Amino acid sequence: MEEIGVPAGVDPTVPSVARMYDYYLGGKDNFAADRAAADKIIEILPNVGDIARENRAFLVRTVTHLAGLGVRQFLDIGAGLPTRRNVHEVAQEAAPGSRVVYVDNDPIVLAHARAILAENADVIALDADMRDPAALLAHPGIRAHLDFSRPVAILMLGVLHFVPDDAEASAIAGTFRAALTPGGYLVVSHGSLGELTEEQEKEGRSVIGRTSVPGATSRTPAQVLSFFDGLDVLDPGVVPLQDWRPEDRAPFHEPGQAGAVGGVGRMP
Ligand SMILES: C[S@@+](CC[C@H](N)C(=O)[O-])C[C@H]1O[C@@H](n2cnc3c(N)ncnc32)[C@H](O)[C@@H]1O
Repeated sequence: MEEIGVPAGVDPTVPSVARMYDYYLGGKDNFAADRAAADKIIEILPNVGDIARENRAFLVRTVTHLAGLGVRQFLDIGAGLPTRRNVHEVAQEAAPGSRVVYVDNDPIVLAHARAILAENADVIALDADMRDPAALLAHPGIRAHLDFSRPVAILMLGVLHFVPDDAEASAIAGTFRAALTPGGYLVVSHGSLGELTEEQEKEGRSVIGRTSVPGATSRTPAQVLSFFDGLDVLDPGVVPLQDWRPEDRAPFHEPGQAGAVGGVGRMP
């Protein structure tokens, strides 16, 4: 069957992690190849949908918290397809006029983001690759929209696990940290699945190997904490997402279940 609404230059037969994530969240912006790959991941990790929903809830709580602390500029790297309660909606609800830049390297993410942002002058969406962080930070569109001499919150939610090499992931996080002025923040969430069986690892690698990203890896909370080197990590530290200032909210999955961890660091 031919896919409807495929922009030029997009091969709908190559699964995209952005559209697979949309499918985990119950969205409709995905193609047959995305759903088939996502269904394989669901077989290996049946709670991946819960992890995705926890991640979005973490995004809402962290952005609300930072807006409450006075942050008015957000750079969302690996922003993903628009869904319920996007960063600009959460930030602008708390503080009208907050400025947001969405960055992704998936052309469908950009097409959808631009369509919903046409009316909002304080929000833009740009094509850039987090694996070249210096070029991303130098992007004229970002420099024109955000003032890096004032606090910016850099969000890296559910993206660094798509950089399997530890030294590269660490260098990427380090370059973004170095862009922060005092009072700026880094927010990271990351897959932290605990022990996987050899079979899970093998099957996971084979599915991800056919997608738009070069690979994916789970990291321990201590490894994720190292992405905040030199920053003051806000309480409660790098913890399972459902434990980060949970308020009176029932978690999507049980304590102790494999999932993702995250935290927020402030440039002193
Ligand atoms: C799992 S989604 C996370 C979306 C959103 N940040 C969230 O937490 O809900 C990962 C996103 O990262 C994007 N991504 C992966 N590798 C990237 C890269 N090298 N540069 C920019 N974006 C990337 C994908 O296209 C996808 O939209």
